[in-house]
Amino acid sequence: MGEFSGQVAIITGAASGIGLAIAYKLLAEGASVALFDFNEPGLQQEFGTVGERALLIGLDITDENRVAEAVTQVNQRFGQIDILINCVGITGITNLRSHEVSSENLHKVFEVNFMSCFYTSKAVVPLMLARQYGRILHIASIAGKEGNAGMLAYSASKAAVIGMTKVQGKEYAETGITVNALAPAVIRTPLVDAMPEVQVRYMTDKIPMKRCGTLDEAANLATYIVSSKNSFTTGFTFDLSGGRATY
Ligand SMILES: NC(=O)c1ccc[n+]([C@@H]2O[C@H](COP(=O)([O-])OP(=O)(O)OC[C@H]3O[C@@H](n4cnc5c(N)ncnc54)[C@H](O)[C@@H]3O)[C@@H](O)[C@H]2O)c1
Repeated sequence: MGEFSGQVAIITGAASGIGLAIAYKLLAEGASVALFDFNEPGLQQEFGTVGERALLIGLDITDENRVAEAVTQVNQRFGQIDILINCVGITGITNLRSHEVSSENLHKVFEVNFMSCFYTSKAVVPLMLARQYGRILHIASIAGKEGNAGMLAYSASKAAVIGMTKVQGKEYAETGITVNALAPAVIRTPLVDAMPEVQVRYMTDKIPMKRCGTLDEAANLATYIVSSKNSFTTGFTFDLSGGRATY
């Protein structure tokens, strides 16, 4: 019997990186998981043999209707949703100054990073309100707190996620639902590998511990945030930055 036995968690972006690590940890701690990602073969490859406790759903997280349908499907299958963790995210094109950014790319990054968190939480909150319990975690970024030069779309979309976390935390504070965010600095995942090396160095050089965070460190903090133990913190953005953010 793990800490999350009997609980049901939706994790978006679970085919790779931080979402994948969190999904493994919650499964190991006894949760049932519903995993959303547009990389359906990736989900199948990682979790295809888990059986009853894993529901794998291939979808584009920017399709609001599809997200709502998928949340209904999860609720029908497991009868409840205790936890939502939003891990889908893209950097968009980076290493550009703001006047060089295309509006199209800016819109796309906002749709994937910010609107997706709105779509999933909009679909899940009514079910959590009915049970007067829920844990929502949006994965933001240190870029949203500090603003990384060369990353306008990413930084601004993550700042929007942090803003929404504050609003939602207050709105549901008396309902048994907590809403928090997590702001990692650099965790070496495919998202980081896809960025220009100069942009990655810019971010890593700012970390006082002079190293990247690990997937284990990210999964450990994320699972604490969505645990029932974390009951008096909401609307907050947790730090995971090796000392870069001290606020
Ligand atoms: N890795 C880091 O250093 C770091 C730092 C700060 C914040 N973050 C944030 O953490 C989260 C996870 O990042 P990661 O490094 O694990 O990324 P990743 O690229 O390894 O994984 C992201 C996953 O999201 C999926 N995805 C992307 N667009 C999608 C869409 N439209 N619909 C459905 N699925 C989609 C991808 O298929 C992939 O499986 C992101 O929000 C990211 O911004 C990461």
